[in-house]
Amino acid sequence: MRLSTSVALGLFALSLLACSRDARSPDGEGRAAPSSPTAEPAPGVAVAVDAGAAEPAASVDASASAEQPMERTPDIEYVPTPENVVEKMLEVGKVKKGDVLYDLGCGDGRIVVTAAKKFGIKAFGFDLDPQRIKESKENAKKAGVEHLVTFEQKDIFNVDLSPATVVTLYLLPELNVRLIPQLEKLKPGSRVVSHDFDMEGVAYENWWSVIARDHQTPKDREHFVYLWKTPLKLKKK
Ligand SMILES: C[S@@+](CC[C@H](N)C(=O)[O-])C[C@H]1O[C@@H](n2cnc3c(N)ncnc32)[C@H](O)[C@@H]1O
Repeated sequence: MRLSTSVALGLFALSLLACSRDARSPDGEGRAAPSSPTAEPAPGVAVAVDAGAAEPAASVDASASAEQPMERTPDIEYVPTPENVVEKMLEVGKVKKGDVLYDLGCGDGRIVVTAAKKFGIKAFGFDLDPQRIKESKENAKKAGVEHLVTFEQKDIFNVDLSPATVVTLYLLPELNVRLIPQLEKLKPGSRVVSHDFDMEGVAYENWWSVIARDHQTPKDREHFVYLWKTPLKLKKK
């Protein structure tokens, strides 16, 4: 993605989030959102967030060689989910022993590593970027969960989701929508949890608001967490 495009998309996302903030209750707990932020699919998660000081440190070795060359440009650039938002995603996804979690576009692996460490579950992360996969493996090693996690350099649109019981997303609204055919293959009772972005055409179970550091400003801002359960409830057109 060219820098100018990225900045424009980022600004668009920020305005989207400001609008959706206006439309929501102050705490957001368990209430239906009056309007869906995906009414206008908003490309631009790129500027969304940062984890702040509490992040697990991903030691990035810039000299490290890639595992494989990047197959293609990622559909969205890397922005980490803040740790308190990760915690909220795992909480509302009711992650428990025996679950299998997939994070699609895993970045530095923080959701996968946190899930494995906290619940002792098997967790998988997929990312197109070899540097992200390298960081994920380093973070898994630091957290002592290498035996529980798997990171694969792979396009998320080629991943079979049927083994998963929990799927986490921090992508873009239109990417969430593109994943619907794969998400429909999840077992009944599985949970899909998305940071900041809705999935147009599918009724969510609920949404929550979490205050966390913004990656770019860096100031606190409101983050959103959406939950769907399978079988997905497709909205009538
Ligand atoms: C916004 S980041 C989210 C990272 C992580 N899930 C988190 O919440 O901290 C999105 C990630 O998706 C990856 N990505 C984008 N398009 C992808 C694709 N088609 N297949 C696999 N990974 C992709 C990017 O490389 C980036 O690391």
